[in-house]
Amino acid sequence: MAKKTGLAEGYIHGFTKDEQDRLYQQARVHEEVIFPQIDFGSAKSIIEVGSGVGAQTKILLERFPHLNIQCVDASKTQVARARQELENEMKSGRVKIDAGDALHLKYKDNAFDGAFICWLLEHVQNPVEILEEVKRVLKSGGVIYCNEVFNATFYVHPYSPATLKYWFEFNDQQWSLKGDPFVGGKLANYLMEAGFQNVSTKVLTHQYDNRMPKKRAAFIDYWTGLLLSGAKGLIDVGRVTPAIVKEMTRELQTLKDDPNSVIFYSWILARAEVY
Ligand SMILES: C[S@@+](CC[C@H](N)C(=O)[O-])C[C@H]1O[C@@H](n2cnc3c(N)ncnc32)[C@H](O)[C@@H]1O
Repeated sequence: MAKKTGLAEGYIHGFTKDEQDRLYQQARVHEEVIFPQIDFGSAKSIIEVGSGVGAQTKILLERFPHLNIQCVDASKTQVARARQELENEMKSGRVKIDAGDALHLKYKDNAFDGAFICWLLEHVQNPVEILEEVKRVLKSGGVIYCNEVFNATFYVHPYSPATLKYWFEFNDQQWSLKGDPFVGGKLANYLMEAGFQNVSTKVLTHQYDNRMPKKRAAFIDYWTGLLLSGAKGLIDVGRVTPAIVKEMTRELQTLKDDPNSVIFYSWILARAEVY
């Protein structure tokens, strides 16, 4: 019998060079909201699960210069790019990068002081089992941070029907691939089910309106790229037409130029401990 996999049945964003570059941009877009909430000050070694191209790893290394990081990601393509980007940090011994499924980590029990997971659990089909596996490799007293999407929270003004239709199909496609675009809302339950303790969550938000027009425009650009990262796949399976993609792109451009527009998105950062 084939070994059980933690991977969903498809990956909505794909693995192109443009998509890899988008992940680096994305990490910086969220950095100022996410990282003030992260404290690995007393950890020496952490595991980053679903580390992708190493975009969050770079930020972790900058913000916690004492940390050693073990990265693991299921995609050999992403791992190859991460190894290229983090070559110096690998040479200096601060980072190790392995290809592997989060459901079957090859590390010993009680190996790490902490774990960092970012935008991973939306792409897996058995999040609780993956969290149990991560817990296994954490020492007693270890801390885990999980930063995950909660796609029910997206809002734009003025009303943008093509964007909302596309967003529904984007999320529904991920759901049908056995991922979960709403996983953030369930994170606390999942961490508790996996046996973590002292579980806490924060709702983090990007909320842009007339108070910060430049940030609003930059965020709309980022958001347009995020939505378009799924366009080819959604067109290929017949969920959206090229006309919808074009109309969505036009709507988002209009939003960017509209002096009264609003864009809002929230997600969940959870923290928990192992005892
Ligand atoms: C959206 S990317 C996020 C990457 C990185 N954490 C970041 O924020 O830039 C999700 C990553 O999860 C990886 N992934 C999906 N399922 C996985 C699994 N079961 N085990 C390990 N990695 C997995 C994918 O290969 C992809 O690189």
